[in-house]
Amino acid sequence: MVKINDNYTKLPGSYLFSDIAKRIARYSEANPDKKIIRLGIGDVTQPLSSSIIDALHKSVDEMADADTFHGYAPDLGYEFLRNAIAENDYKSRGCDIRPDEIFVSDGAKCDCANIQEIFATDNVVAVCDPVYPVYVDSNVMAGRAGDYDEEQGLFDRIVYMPCLEEHGFAPEIPEKTADLIYLCFPNNPTGAVITKDELQKWVDYANETGSVIIYDAAYEAYIQTEGIPHSIYECEGAKTCAIELHSFSKNAGFTGVRLGYTVVPHELVRDGIELHSLWARRHSTKYNGAPYIIQRAGEAVYSTEGQKEIKELIAYYMRNASYILEGLKEAGYSVSGGVDAPYIWLKTPEGMSSWDFFDYLLENANVVGTPGSGFGPHGEGYFRLTAFGSYENTVEAVDRIKRLANK
Ligand code: MLT
Repeated sequence: MVKINDNYTKLPGSYLFSDIAKRIARYSEANPDKKIIRLGIGDVTQPLSSSIIDALHKSVDEMADADTFHGYAPDLGYEFLRNAIAENDYKSRGCDIRPDEIFVSDGAKCDCANIQEIFATDNVVAVCDPVYPVYVDSNVMAGRAGDYDEEQGLFDRIVYMPCLEEHGFAPEIPEKTADLIYLCFPNNPTGAVITKDELQKWVDYANETGSVIIYDAAYEAYIQTEGIPHSIYECEGAKTCAIELHSFSKNAGFTGVRLGYTVVPHELVRDGIELHSLWARRHSTKYNGAPYIIQRAGEAVYSTEGQKEIKELIAYYMRNASYILEGLKEAGYSVSGGVDAPYIWLKTPEGMSSWDFFDYLLENANVVGTPGSGFGPHGEGYFRLTAFGSYENTVEAVDRIKRLANK
């Protein structure tokens, strides 16, 4: 008889955002007249910009003609897109990343879940606490996390790096040496950022210890402050210790379109093997590439017009972020994030637990957010709101929360 991968049975509960969706569905069913405003999952709401739509139409038409039809995409992605990424996301920032170090995919979520496959199962993984749950869950599924301690809400083989308010929600280098370190800046869920000097310390640490950093840069387009690095490759020596993940979801609204990329530099060598060759092997065996039409849409993001449009899109969401930030401050909340990131991280009032605050806000303001404890034990007592709603809904949600605070 077949045996299941019993690592899956170690996963506590269901995936955070599925859990939230179920709770909203239950509440909506019982209260069909209530207008719920969703500022929970970081899903975008604004339409794709016109350059992207034009590129999609044009490439769809190409698929209708045998002369311009495209079948399987090249393993790493189309050159037109990899060249545009190398030029715009790296060369323009002084980072020496070559197009053949870029692997195009259908999004950063899959890549950040899959990248662990190229590492041995006995590696020690370090994650921030709170953390985007996919980094932990994918390592649990692979058998790298050990056993789950329900009381503490922690896996015993994972090194958790608490992100505390007194350190601006940035992690500190762990005492216990970790092999695989997941970092995400601007951070999901706290919205925290770190300076280039601070990031350099992680790079130096990884090069000294031989660890590898998985750097999730999905939110880099939201950075407004000078001096905050957009890529880990802005740091000296990062090419020998870091893999970087990017998404088109948050900067260009591709959550329903799906496109991302991962950078694995050739200089990143462990056990005498280029990690690039392992990821290339995995990519070509398990993946057939993001669709041609979507890669053309991605290319359009880098056109002059596309860049102008996505800057406007980001400004739209950042206007929401500052409305939430300021509104919650006025309502007496302790808040952070929302300056270089589309997430606002707030302390729950009166010591309420994160899930109690979720229910309180849902029932009394009909506003959905994400409980901080869903991202890890150090998220307990915190709550995340996203800036990805429409402006009108964001204003309405904040006004409802303010009215509640004044009751
Ligand atoms: C989030 O809400 O944390 C993100 O939307 C999740 C994701 O990007 O997969």
